[in-house]
Amino acid sequence: MRASGISDLATVLVAISCVGETIAVGVSKTTPQPQTLPPLQEQAEIVNAWTEERKALIPDLLRKYNVDAWLMSQREYAEDTVFWALKDAVQFSARRRTTHLFLASPKNGAQNAYSWIDNTAAVWADLRALFAEQQVSVSVSFIIPFDMSREPLNTHSEIAFASGLHAGELDTISAALGEEWTDRFVLEPMLPVEVVATMVPSRLPWYHRMQETAWAIIEEAFSEKTIVPGKTTPLSLEWWLRERIQSLNYTTWFQPGVYVLTEEGFPLKEPVASKSKLRASADRPIQYGDLIHTDFGVTALGLNTDTQHLGYVLYPGETEADIPKGMIEGLKKANRMQDIIRENMKIGLTGNEILKASLNQMHNEGIEGRIYCHPTGEWGHSAGTVIGMTNLQDGVPVLGDMPLLKNTYYSIELFAEHFVPERNRTLNFPQEEDVYWDVNTESWEWVYGRQDEFLLIRTPADDVLESPGEL
Ligand SMILES: *[C@@H]1O[C@H](CO)[C@@H](O)[C@H](O)[C@H]1NC(C)=O
Ligand SMILES: *[C@@H]1O[C@H](CO)[C@@H](O)[C@H](O)[C@H]1NC(C)=O
Repeated sequence: MRASGISDLATVLVAISCVGETIAVGVSKTTPQPQTLPPLQEQAEIVNAWTEERKALIPDLLRKYNVDAWLMSQREYAEDTVFWALKDAVQFSARRRTTHLFLASPKNGAQNAYSWIDNTAAVWADLRALFAEQQVSVSVSFIIPFDMSREPLNTHSEIAFASGLHAGELDTISAALGEEWTDRFVLEPMLPVEVVATMVPSRLPWYHRMQETAWAIIEEAFSEKTIVPGKTTPLSLEWWLRERIQSLNYTTWFQPGVYVLTEEGFPLKEPVASKSKLRASADRPIQYGDLIHTDFGVTALGLNTDTQHLGYVLYPGETEADIPKGMIEGLKKANRMQDIIRENMKIGLTGNEILKASLNQMHNEGIEGRIYCHPTGEWGHSAGTVIGMTNLQDGVPVLGDMPLLKNTYYSIELFAEHFVPERNRTLNFPQEEDVYWDVNTESWEWVYGRQDEFLLIRTPADDVLESPGEL
């Protein structure tokens, strides 16, 4: 999904994962199949096991970022952004006041993690007692997703995952704990970012299945089974995609988009939000010779996918040999950009450094286009650094300044510009595929594969008179 413009900065999230299992990846030539989800109770068990693996990483992460304690507190329906990454599968929101405390190196037999669900002042008394006891041997500092060093009530201005503490909750915490402890609050934005971003290895097989499902739905949508040239509109196909997701008991995290690139171009000048007013060609039927595009994702098991693929509508009786060569070259350029970005995604570099190196390499190879990659997985736009945004190709402030973390999932999202002689115009060729960090090869690998051939909508030669578009 394309994060459109500045207003979306606050919602750009990050995800990270550690992936230990090896699964078959690479270009998939077999037809992807929708993957059935297990019964709900089994899903809950799967997700809870992943959450326990993630929680087990927290003490190490606290030590990595050199903080002693992490306090996270919220009231029902005013949850910290990180709450969702740590909750039990059968929690649908925080209840009453829900407070979590994690200690880096507990002393005197204390536990690493504490949780309270309460609506009395008992939680503050417990916390003060615990802090006082732990202070015996360790100076306790607090990581709260909030920047006390700038000015009071200034939540982190750009990083959603590091600004989830609600202002009113901070007031309550500060009053209840007093200066003795609030003076030790610090902001370490990378702690919540890395907690949310880290994808534990056991998630990967299911992420692979979800990605296969997304590919399968797109293949079904971009086929003659679903598209009747001259009749099917982009808008009707978007709602067909929504219904298909629902029929498989998945959900999604954004309204699917279907676009005719040969008609309306890409990216659209209007932000996606204005789609309700119907963009120009949303209800213009898809025609023979159209290059079509979808931006599509599915959600299940607390994971989200993000994919963009292309299709071409053959004229009746045509075969793949009839796809305009200029379009095939455009897709090849987008594939080359994918490889360039993957190679430049070196752990520890910032998103902006990766963006610059990738654009330089592209330009040296004579390729024009734009790069706008983001972490994905836990959230569609998940926690971590971003590598460009559609409107920011010289670097992204703050979000692009974070270092790239390993053990995460990323969406490699971009478009290549290519002059298509057959159409006498330059078209943009968007692509988006999710990758994971492979601990064995120390490289970013496709979760399912990547598109290197157009999906084709075929019409038999003798169907031409029956096609409503030709009547
Ligand atoms: C979706 O859920 C319903 C109700 O539990 C179930 O009957 C159906 O088989 C499920 N469909 C798929 C494709 O998993
Ligand atoms: C191609 O487009 C350019 C301008 O966009 C136009 O000047 C030229 O005549 C076109 N060529 C053909 C063969 O149509």
